[in-house]
Amino acid sequence: MKLVILGASGGCGRQLVRQALTRGHEVTAVARPSSSYSAPDGATLTRGDIFDQDFLAQTFAGADAVLSSLGLKVPSLSPFATPEVPDLLSRATPIIVAAMKRAEVKRIIAISAGGVGDSYAWMPGVFKVFIKTTVLRKAYAELEKMEKILLESGLDVCCCRPTGLSDDPATGRARVVTSLKGRAQIPRADVAAWMLDAIERPSFAARGPVITVTGAG
Ligand SMILES: NC(=O)c1ccc[n+]([C@@H]2O[C@H](COP(=O)([O-])OP(=O)(O)OC[C@H]3O[C@@H](n4cnc5c(N)ncnc54)[C@H](OP(=O)(O)O)[C@@H]3O)[C@@H](O)[C@H]2O)c1
Repeated sequence: MKLVILGASGGCGRQLVRQALTRGHEVTAVARPSSSYSAPDGATLTRGDIFDQDFLAQTFAGADAVLSSLGLKVPSLSPFATPEVPDLLSRATPIIVAAMKRAEVKRIIAISAGGVGDSYAWMPGVFKVFIKTTVLRKAYAELEKMEKILLESGLDVCCCRPTGLSDDPATGRARVVTSLKGRAQIPRADVAAWMLDAIERPSFAARGPVITVTGAG
């Protein structure tokens, strides 16, 4: 498949690029103009502004699907911290959708987070407090908006919702859950593998699945 990966320079994005290449996909990795990221051999690295619809439409042309691991950069977990670009997802997502429609690309899988939308009810109590009292409150509000825009776009959409991310090696044990307890975590490598499995199937089994390795309830 021809895959475009947004947020390729991030922790999950790097995993997506590497694993997609290993699986034999044709990969275009998208990074910011200022990024020092260099994509692995075999991937096409494209630098551009995520808010530039023309750039995105050109980048998406001929692709089978878009995978997004874009996420807010936060300087600390302080409730007073301000994300680098606080409206990143609510501003970029409509532009991504419009560019996909221009390029006639119909499928997108994006990383949201466990605790967004209806999955908030499934979170352990401690984590609910964490979401409400730290800078995550701002990040989660943006993820909610991203999900809504994508889910109402008319595109074929999956907003996967991983639990706490780690850089541990892949386990191959990522699964969809509807309740959580204790320390729920998933390695970024497992998130990427789960997303690629999902995009390789002809349709998404769920539109907002919570995925985890540990902490299934
Ligand atoms: N941390 C967790 O435990 C957790 C749990 C569940 C879900 N999530 C979600 O998963 C997402 C992915 O995680 P991750 O660890 O891969 O995040 P990450 O390493 O911070 O990657 C975020 C990506 O978004 C890009 N980005 C940020 N601001 C941008 C902007 N203004 N313009 C263009 N690109 C921009 C970054 O580019 P640069 O490299 O150039 O900054 C990077 O490629 C998180 O952001 C979050 O929404 C996180």
